[in-house]
Amino acid sequence: MKAFEWYNPTRIVLGTNSIAQLSKFLPKDSKVLMLYGGGSIKSNGVYESVMQALEGYSVDEFGGIEANPTYETLMKALEVIKSKNIDFLLAVGGGSVIDGTKFLSSAALYTGDNPWDILKKGIRTEVGMPFGTVLTLPATGSEMNSGAVITNKSTSEKLGMGGPGLFPQFSLLNPEVIKSLPKRQLQNGIVDAMTHVLEQYCTYPVGADLQDRIAESILKSLIYQAPKILHEPYDETVASNFMYCCTMALNGQIQKGVPTDWATHMIGHELTSKFDIDHARTLAIVMPQLYRFKFEAKKEKLAQLAERVFDITEGSTEVKATKAIEALEKFYDKIEMPHRLSDYTKGYEDIDQQVKSIFEARNWRGIGERKDINPDDVAKILRMTY
Ligand code: NZQ
Ligand code: ZN
Repeated sequence: MKAFEWYNPTRIVLGTNSIAQLSKFLPKDSKVLMLYGGGSIKSNGVYESVMQALEGYSVDEFGGIEANPTYETLMKALEVIKSKNIDFLLAVGGGSVIDGTKFLSSAALYTGDNPWDILKKGIRTEVGMPFGTVLTLPATGSEMNSGAVITNKSTSEKLGMGGPGLFPQFSLLNPEVIKSLPKRQLQNGIVDAMTHVLEQYCTYPVGADLQDRIAESILKSLIYQAPKILHEPYDETVASNFMYCCTMALNGQIQKGVPTDWATHMIGHELTSKFDIDHARTLAIVMPQLYRFKFEAKKEKLAQLAERVFDITEGSTEVKATKAIEALEKFYDKIEMPHRLSDYTKGYEDIDQQVKSIFEARNWRGIGERKDINPDDVAKILRMTY
């Protein structure tokens, strides 16, 4: 195991009564800006619950943060923050609203001329404007981590940002929010969380036994909950387990002391940018093919995944590793998650070349746990995804 430091100050409150407890965590004299997305919270009761919990506070609202939040929209919210002297941000939504709020938390205190530089120049946020979240979509883990991904429409870039100043102060997780989620978003949540675990697990062995076993437990629980979440009537226990899995998948814990990959996410973000495919769906397209391409480097952890998560115990390391990739694809099929680029677009003819040039433009010389996946390799992986 590698040496590590782990810091995570976010308070998680999970339960059907969590939103009602908001005032316990929000200073009474705060000038709050509540941020939300396209309006789902107005039709599923979450807006009313939050407004009730905010009674007595000074509250302004900013709605319309889109899926894959854009810099252009967020700059309008930044104007509201400045003109209304806001000092606390409350994100009510999924990963997009939370990520957008993280950008605003950073941009509100940024002293440079152009807030896009925070992403473009990779400026870490040491201190941001305080914020909390009310999570409405279990998937990204953004509610308990300090990262965000923002899209710049005018330059077609989707870039990441982060830093210790960007942990939410609190996140309120009411499992009932999943009642109004369409199947597509539930599938997305399951696959995004699984992929987060795998990005931190499927690399090479370093003897981090506890991290491995926690990762395997999250995967097993997600695989167990998935059909119940998708096909059975709402159940509070199942929904709570699902939510907690998604949070634990990307809150830093299983990433400590181990190598991490993230190549699937980096390639996936480019596919979202180019084709507007949902984040999680790009991951299902890329990950199995990336594993086939990097088979030699990853086969030991893939074989461990086969044994401990998919109960595949027969055969050599290579046989088990191969079956693990197949089991992953079978799982996508079982939850009806398409996993070929051609399932989403026919415009992929020269996508490998395009993504290759994007990687060159970003100066990403090598990605993956060994930083050895180069632009040519990305092109080859993408050709395998058609
Ligand atoms: O905008 P509204 O009307 O609220 O509708 C949203 C949106 O259309 C809807 N929705 C959310 N909660 C709902 C609901 N509909 C009905 N009932 C509810 N309770 O779902 C749609 C998708 O929402 P979005 O927030 O975009 O989804 P998700 O949580 O999957 O977030 C995706 C974004 O997070 C980034 C992705 O790149 C993408 O931009 N990620 C952030 C990460 C992080 N900060 O750690 C890690 C991830 O890997 C990911 O990159
Ligand atoms: Zn993700």
